[in-house]
Amino acid sequence: MFDELKKIIKRINGSENPSAASKQAPIRSIASVAAQPSEQFPKFVTVSRQIVAVTNQKGGCAKTTTAINLAACLAEKGYKVLLVDLDPQAHASLGLGIDKDNIDRTVYDVLINNVELNEIILRTQVERLDIAPSNSLLSGAQLELASILGRESVLRIAIRKLLLRKDYDFIFFDCNPSLNLVTINALVAAEAILIPLQTHYYSLEGMKELFSTIEIVRERLNPDLHILGILATLYDTRTKISAKMLEQIRDYFKDKVFNTVIRNNVKLCEAPIYKKPIHIYDRNCAGTQDYFSLTEEIVAKTQRCEVRIESGKIA
Ligand SMILES: Nc1ncnc2c1ncn2[C@@H]1O[C@H](COP(=O)(O)OP(=O)(O)O)[C@@H](O)[C@H]1O
Ligand SMILES: [Mg+2]
Repeated sequence: MFDELKKIIKRINGSENPSAASKQAPIRSIASVAAQPSEQFPKFVTVSRQIVAVTNQKGGCAKTTTAINLAACLAEKGYKVLLVDLDPQAHASLGLGIDKDNIDRTVYDVLINNVELNEIILRTQVERLDIAPSNSLLSGAQLELASILGRESVLRIAIRKLLLRKDYDFIFFDCNPSLNLVTINALVAAEAILIPLQTHYYSLEGMKELFSTIEIVRERLNPDLHILGILATLYDTRTKISAKMLEQIRDYFKDKVFNTVIRNNVKLCEAPIYKKPIHIYDRNCAGTQDYFSLTEEIVAKTQRCEVRIESGKIA
């Protein structure tokens, strides 16, 4: 199973070294759109540095926990961040204090009703962190998208339009736990993928399917897509099996795996109940330390990707 995965990863990155592609990958997708001459473009556009899909079709591997807390820690560090909730369960919206029953329009309307992303964005309690909320309606989007022309690219176009109006340093998609059309939309709109991976025995099940899907998306829809990193989560410092799993994950995915490991920390379960990101809920807990450490790694990885556009040209 690992060997097959290895082959797929090699093909995805077009390189022997699985980390090479992400090291060099420039942000081209948005830049190339912006580079098209158009009167719509303002003179200067700071291109979003990273558009990241947090995905893994396995449920409970800390996608939402990672999306919320990474987004919040980056905002705390001064970056402008947008979190797009792509799960009908709306845990990211709920965890940031959005009352999902009291919002008029959600990501569903962007995907199905041609509403602009800009119109559904809400501010959160965290300065510089915005959210595009979701609710249970999104579960119907999968079927409804199927009959829409250009169904895989609806979110990509919505993001491009948004970036003409608003400037974000980071945009995260909190994906739902399946490889459905909504998730494909995220993979087509994203420049990079962050894969949370539980350090549990069965966590690698389904990875082959995920990598095959990524490969197909790269071949057919989004050649710039690259893997930002694999994040070991729910790490139990007390058990040998967690250590063994981490060793295996590092062994096979090599430096694709972030140095940061997210340890098991009950505060990370409690924080969403109080509708707070971890660093506001408990500034000193292990969860806060781990997500700030991940934040530093991500900033270091993406700094070289910053691009400026002047009069439709990449400066
Ligand atoms: N590091 C952690 N320590 C303890 N509990 C965690 C940790 N990360 C996530 N959890 C908990 O695990 C559950 C699943 O996490 P979640 O982020 O919702 O996963 P996903 O979005 O992949 O389904 C949630 O109850 C969450 O609070
Ligand atoms: Mg989730």
